[in-house]
Amino acid sequence: MNSKIKILAITGAVRPDSQTAKLAQISKKYFRNDDVEYRVFDLGKNPLPMYDAKISLNNANVQLLLKLTVEADGLVFISPEYHGSMSGALKNALDWMDFLEDIDFLHGKVVGIMGGGGSFGNSGATVQLMMATRALHAWLMPDVIVNVPRIRKALGEDDLIEEMYRTRMTKFANNLIKYTKMFKENRKIFN
Ligand SMILES: Cc1cc2nc3c(=O)[nH]c(=O)nc-3n(C[C@H](O)[C@H](O)[C@H](O)COP(=O)(O)O)c2cc1C
Repeated sequence: MNSKIKILAITGAVRPDSQTAKLAQISKKYFRNDDVEYRVFDLGKNPLPMYDAKISLNNANVQLLLKLTVEADGLVFISPEYHGSMSGALKNALDWMDFLEDIDFLHGKVVGIMGGGGSFGNSGATVQLMMATRALHAWLMPDVIVNVPRIRKALGEDDLIEEMYRTRMTKFANNLIKYTKMFKENRKIFN
């Protein structure tokens, strides 16, 4: 392949000191690869208005999110667990993707799911993101999901503390890169 693949991670927490945003920053080093351009879109730093199909697309952050999403070959959805669900901020960002209907949403792209939570972990958000991935016409990456319970204690200054999670993150990144290349190389099958 002669050009880099583009992977866009969208992280859906807007709290100051967000552990999810920290996890997203940590994930960057796992995607460091000569073939990959990995970019994090942090909804805390780039807040979006509430989705409203009636309003025009004149918000700069919405425009940027949609542009980066169209350009991306693969995506990562990163959510905290909030009340057994994905965050409202991430759900709202996915709802803005309704404007991608003309290009058939995320058709032919692969999505990996990552997140953290308190004692119950990220399973509520993860299941919802699996369903949203399907509804956006994307392909859910099989096998590896990064789900970090008790996330505040799991994150060190610049990495996951436990080897088990570092191993999982490594496998997550390697698999997502592999599948994203595979889908990109075969994009014509999807057209
Ligand atoms: C509004 C809210 C709801 C939460 N609900 C849950 C929950 O249902 N299950 C759980 O395990 N943790 C829950 N937590 C804990 C968070 O998942 C945990 O604090 C995580 O660090 C939040 O990510 P953030 O720091 O990016 O906001 C909740 C936290 C908040 C702020």
